[in-house]
Amino acid sequence: MRRIEADLGLAATPEHGEGPLWDDRIDRLHWVDIEGRAVHTFDPVAGVDVALALDQQVGAVALRESGGLAVAAERGFGLLGADDLVTAGRTTLPMVQEVVEDPGERFNDGECDPFGRFWAGSMAKDATPGAGRVHRLDPDGSTEVVLAGLTISNGMAWSDDGTTLLLADSGSGWVDQLTIDPDAGTVLARRPHVGFHDTPGVPDGITSDAEDGLWVALYGAGEVRRLRPDGTVDLVVDLPVTKPTSCAFAGPGLDQLWITTTTEDLDDAELRAQPHAGSLFVCEPGVVGRDPFRFAG
Ligand code: BGC
Ligand code: CA
Repeated sequence: MRRIEADLGLAATPEHGEGPLWDDRIDRLHWVDIEGRAVHTFDPVAGVDVALALDQQVGAVALRESGGLAVAAERGFGLLGADDLVTAGRTTLPMVQEVVEDPGERFNDGECDPFGRFWAGSMAKDATPGAGRVHRLDPDGSTEVVLAGLTISNGMAWSDDGTTLLLADSGSGWVDQLTIDPDAGTVLARRPHVGFHDTPGVPDGITSDAEDGLWVALYGAGEVRRLRPDGTVDLVVDLPVTKPTSCAFAGPGLDQLWITTTTEDLDDAELRAQPHAGSLFVCEPGVVGRDPFRFAG
């Protein structure tokens, strides 16, 4: 097993940094500040980060075929146009479907499948066990609940054929493997894939690489792990902060791994010990990622 250290990529102070996503059309990295209610768009070459403030919390974003982003927010799914993201500003998120009726809940992580549908998980803001659900947004704007009974529905990674979805639940400490009916967009089966009960952390955001390695941000453990397809650990990326939240491959060659982190629930002493908590970190681990699938609406 190899170990490498990530470098500081963007010094930032979000309330809860999450959801990195490379946009190869503009060579920018989108990321979100869930509690801070903002979508960020970062130019890693120029070092310029632009924040779009929203009227609600924002769990995850996905690229749209037509440019701009599909957004899994506090109350439901919304859409942003490409023009919304180039300059700093403030907007009321245009909604497609308000599916989170309980104000004690919000969307968390999400990912598009190869057929242009956006899958995203909701959770209770106080992480009540069993309150998390996975919703599917179709290109025509309709939605469906496809899975219930999760706690902190978290990172997702799709197989290229859209028949398998890996899904982290931070509440259970497992990344599960879901078998999907690609035509119907429904969950046929669910079984535990890999557990993280040997660390002080819990699985948060995940991504897969071009060699079928699975990258898992371990919130609370200060590391991101690469797992081989058989589940054994290949590489550990160490961070100088305890709470990485997610990771994504980025850059024109998709050869950089960008990692978001958070200050969520850190006390004063922890914040003093981790002056870069909340910042984005980057490393070049020697493997390339996959292009994210896009929302077709
Ligand atoms: C959620 C946090 C949660 C964390 C735990 C994140 O995705 O947004 O609220 O504490 O996962 O892993
Ligand atoms: Ca997450």
